[in-house]
Amino acid sequence: MSESIRSRARRADLPLVAAATGGTPSRRPVWFMRQAGRSLPEYRAIRADHGMLESCFDPELVCEITMQPVRRHDVDAAILFSDIVVPLKAAGVDLDIVAGTGPVIAEPVRSAADVAALPRLEPESVGAIGRAVELLLDELGDGQALIGFAGAPFTLASYLIEGGPSRNYERTKALMHGDPDTWNALMGRLADITIAFLRVQLDAGVDAVQLFDSWAGMLSDADYRTYVAPHSRRVLAEVAAYEVPRIHFGVGTGELLEVMGEVGADVVGVDWRVPLDSAVRRIGPGKAVQGNLDPTLLFAGPTVVEREVRRVIADGERAIRAGATGHIFNLGHGVMPGTDPDVLTRVVELVHSI
Ligand code: CP3
Repeated sequence: MSESIRSRARRADLPLVAAATGGTPSRRPVWFMRQAGRSLPEYRAIRADHGMLESCFDPELVCEITMQPVRRHDVDAAILFSDIVVPLKAAGVDLDIVAGTGPVIAEPVRSAADVAALPRLEPESVGAIGRAVELLLDELGDGQALIGFAGAPFTLASYLIEGGPSRNYERTKALMHGDPDTWNALMGRLADITIAFLRVQLDAGVDAVQLFDSWAGMLSDADYRTYVAPHSRRVLAEVAAYEVPRIHFGVGTGELLEVMGEVGADVVGVDWRVPLDSAVRRIGPGKAVQGNLDPTLLFAGPTVVEREVRRVIADGERAIRAGATGHIFNLGHGVMPGTDPDVLTRVVELVHSI
């Protein structure tokens, strides 16, 4: 284990961790999903010379790209620069991340034989990511948390089955309903990979983890409960012993918030469609909420941005009165590539000033 791991007492003082665990943060914590990446000219300058996956497996580049938005915006957390398909690539799945498209899988997984042939993740194959975490913990300032992450089994499965991004997820749902045994075998294998990837980051000392089930909102409540929840529950349970906050997020999950609150996270991320106080009534008390400024409103000019930031904060305060244990300010999904980075900096200043 790294010497740079924070002691439990110091970790509890981080504003993000305090807000996630029912403590009193020294300031209102804010960070942005996809804060590292194409909204920043300094990121585009690095990527001009380095491929996406190449960057994800180079500890110095991961550290530098992860730090860029922290330096620029004074956010309360860094999110490890990586991608949800990095552990699949490390395990040996033939895939690429195509600019403007996302992950593309060379040989989609659609049969029992395909599932049986899926490689397992050996922790050594993501050693570069553990090394990047150690570099980051030395680099981050007081009060700045490092968030590790992984894709949840459903969102990973959707890429593997569809072969890339999808609008309707028809092949994914066909396998789920048509061959539940193969579906559950695949989800079990992906849960194992996700657990192994999170453990590498946790052993190296990340302060929190976020499980991204980005596309779970495509599912009905019944399908989520039957085919997805048991696997995500296992992932979250298997990392509970680390005693770091576990954040769980998906887009368009308004109808799933109740069950997402039951699978074992400490913090539930909410997209922009559901106000945070309504979200708490669905999630139930005893968990923190994260979110949920609509990322497209960052293009609407300073008056709208200020009004909406204040609204989200007021909703967050109502959420706490309704039983949430804390609020972490974020967007309702990731920063869009064309976003003016100065607008993000001003959002952080405003959140900290209220
Ligand atoms: O700043 C951060 O949030 C950390 C970095 C991060 C990336 N991907 C970098 C990235 C994180 C947390 C992810 C997770 C991820 N990857 C998710 C879950 C989060 C979410 O947004 O819902 C998903 C669904 C993916 C799959 C994926 N990878 C998509 C949809 C895309 C974007 C496709 C595009 O080009 O529009 C990627 C590529 C990707 N991942 C980029 C970055 C910075 C862009 C790559 C580039 O620079 O060309």
